[in-house]
Amino acid sequence: MKVTVVGAGAVGASCAEYIAIKDFASEVVILDIKEGFAEGKAMDLMQTASLNNFDTKITGTTGDYSKTAGSDIAVITSGIPRKPGMTREELIGINAGIVKDVSSNLIKHSPDVTIIVVSNPMDTMTYLVHKTTGLPKNKIIGMGGALDSARFKYRLAEALGAPISDVDGMVIGGHSDTGMLPLTRLATRNSVPVSKFLAEDRLEQVKEDTKVGGATLTKLLGTSAWYAPGAAVSGLVQAIACDQKKMFPCSVLLDGEYGLSDICIGAPVILGKNGIKEIVEIELTDAEKEKLQESAEGVRKTNGLLEL
Ligand code: LAC
Repeated sequence: MKVTVVGAGAVGASCAEYIAIKDFASEVVILDIKEGFAEGKAMDLMQTASLNNFDTKITGTTGDYSKTAGSDIAVITSGIPRKPGMTREELIGINAGIVKDVSSNLIKHSPDVTIIVVSNPMDTMTYLVHKTTGLPKNKIIGMGGALDSARFKYRLAEALGAPISDVDGMVIGGHSDTGMLPLTRLATRNSVPVSKFLAEDRLEQVKEDTKVGGATLTKLLGTSAWYAPGAAVSGLVQAIACDQKKMFPCSVLLDGEYGLSDICIGAPVILGKNGIKEIVEIELTDAEKEKLQESAEGVRKTNGLLEL
């Protein structure tokens, strides 16, 4: 199992690190355009192998896509991250060109690759990868919902005063401060609806804190987060690499599901060896349906800025 991670920045490096620590991939190639940067990150990570007990071979390359040849899975993290006060949508000008270039280079050397998109604005970048590569829709996955759901569970556990392992919950919709739809109605504490423990206004607060999860961290860190994004990506990579058939909310090209078409947006999917095995349509209330439609309108507005 060969995995390529494009972009040796903080998200790319932590993603490579988590993949290596889980020790399911034979090879991880990190590619970056900054001279020597990916090679340096790869060497540093390899020097943790005997300490962290993994055998995954990590190498780095400065822009040589031939080194990524035959990748089963590729993760695109390249582009600029947001700075405090910026929205993810504001990154489109620079990141669209980068993501287009990266995805066409990837498929030249790995025509059967499954691509996981992390670069922002993530739903629009996922859509762009579809338009650029023509890969089957099961092979293009946007990482957003997995991260947003992890942030949701963190906030739920905090509000409940419960351990995170007691909590389950999911965020669907666009990966944006306004587009996320944390499904509090379906969130549980050890299979009991969280509404049994938390009042409506506290649940609203959990929802709001989840939606601005990325912005809160960007303000604290001066740039966007990397540990949880890296861990979320590694979970998706593992589900595909190990044919786990695990369910995650991911940005996926919809074709009528949830009443939406020709758009990539967060919905629950089952991931296995061929990427997306199935899109799961859950029953939403009218209010949730309306919120999802609003979220889709926001994503479509950003998609409209692409030069396709
Ligand atoms: C975040 C970025 C990865 O939410 O979009 O942290």
